[in-house]
Amino acid sequence: MSANRPAAVVVLAAGEGTRMKSKTPKVLHEICGRSLVGHVVSAARELSPEHLVVVVGHASEQVEAHLAAEYAGTRTAFQAQQNGTGHAVRMALEELGQAPEGTVVVVCGDTPLLSGETLTALAAAHAADGNAVTVLTAEVPDSTGYGRIVRDETGAVTAIVEHKDATDEQRAIREINSGVFAFDGQLLADALGKVRTDNSQGEEYLTDVLGILREAGHRVGASVAADHREILGINNRVQLAEARRLLNERLLERAMLAGVSIVDPASVLVDVTVTFEQDAIVHPGTQLLGASHIAEGAEVGPNSRLRDTTVHAGARVDNTVAEDAEIGAGAKVGPYTYLRPGTRLGAKSKAGAYVEMKNASIGEGTKVPHLSYVGDATIGDHTNIGAASVFVNYDGEAKHHTTIGSHCRTGADNMLVAPVTVGDGAYTAAGSVITKDVPAGALAVARGQQRNIEGWVARKRPGSAAAQAATAAAEVVADEN
Ligand code: UD1
Ligand code: CA
Repeated sequence: MSANRPAAVVVLAAGEGTRMKSKTPKVLHEICGRSLVGHVVSAARELSPEHLVVVVGHASEQVEAHLAAEYAGTRTAFQAQQNGTGHAVRMALEELGQAPEGTVVVVCGDTPLLSGETLTALAAAHAADGNAVTVLTAEVPDSTGYGRIVRDETGAVTAIVEHKDATDEQRAIREINSGVFAFDGQLLADALGKVRTDNSQGEEYLTDVLGILREAGHRVGASVAADHREILGINNRVQLAEARRLLNERLLERAMLAGVSIVDPASVLVDVTVTFEQDAIVHPGTQLLGASHIAEGAEVGPNSRLRDTTVHAGARVDNTVAEDAEIGAGAKVGPYTYLRPGTRLGAKSKAGAYVEMKNASIGEGTKVPHLSYVGDATIGDHTNIGAASVFVNYDGEAKHHTTIGSHCRTGADNMLVAPVTVGDGAYTAAGSVITKDVPAGALAVARGQQRNIEGWVARKRPGSAAAQAATAAAEVVADEN
């Protein structure tokens, strides 16, 4: 837990985000498997605040439902009209009932790259300097649109001036307000009561609190972010994609420094919730999503998409799409394999080329090497399923289960019509349609008997190329005799 535990963190997320041009509220857009507001709330949680309040307004029901489902324990404050960032913070403090004793941290809901470390460092600097307010600032290449940090000749911060209210001289300033602050809660509440709306947007600016506190003789500080990209605010889809790229880079860099090989980072996409072990290898064109985990020495890709899938140590997954699947240690999957939810592959098992599986448990060393569909099945250990087999699990109304024992050998092109059970060590003949249980150790043959009708081609297709070939073959046999 943070040594400088704030009394509250306030996340501002009431704005509409018109520039996203979307039916989805801005803060619910996702990058790397998490909503924009979710990234901010996750960073805020690293401070272990007593209260975490998200100010909602535009599409508040949707944002509230998302927070309740994914981030239990966050409170929301309702801002009916977006009258400015100062007004939004006022709504949050009203929700809390009384002005918090201690530090209040304010962040915007649209800055998903902001890290918990940066927030922790801000809270620490704020406490160490005994400030009434500490603002997180950044030097940016292009400060257009941002609030500018105005300092006096001693370097002390005197005010934040919004772009629209700034003089040409102030607009030349490249140090900007990130929108992240640490405040003394009591002083914040007092100052918010004094914020006016006589600015170009007619809004209550949170940024005006700085000047108000300074004029009242309180300490005002600034902490410059080490990397200005962290405070990137998302206003449109170009920035959304840019933030996704930067966060993805950050996640892959962390993995690589921990001993994971990412062969081509530019073509690999990961979610924040993905975890790796040392010596995992990720090949190009691969997306690792949700709660996927790649264990030691496992190799994934190229061209694979895994969601909520665990790949155990030393497994090899090639050109595969998998969702909610578990791939055992040393197993081999692919190429061109589709593992659907509920697939569990045992250690050293195989799901080969053009194999689809769903809700299927495959035992240790068991192989389904080619062109098959395995749905709603349990297969024991060291069994081999012949090529082009289908587990016929659906009768048009309900799904049924197939159970196959250990050390079985089913023939190629089998239809296993569920519900059906094949006992341990049993064999089935190629081309069988298995509708009845097969006892352990038996050979099941379930197909029509072959019948050869001699001379049929010569009689029914006289003069055809086939008939000529048959005649030539008969002459060869005659000569040999
Ligand atoms: C704000 C800052 C600016 C800073 C910039 C950083 C003010 C007045 N300006 O400008 O100094 O450089 O952020 O990105 O604070 N919001 C509400 N209710 C409101 C208004 C805004 O909840 O009434 C929320 C928005 O949803 C958003 C955040 O506050 O998450 C920032 O609002 P936005 O309108 O984007 O402010 P900027 O003009 O970017
Ligand atoms: Ca903004």
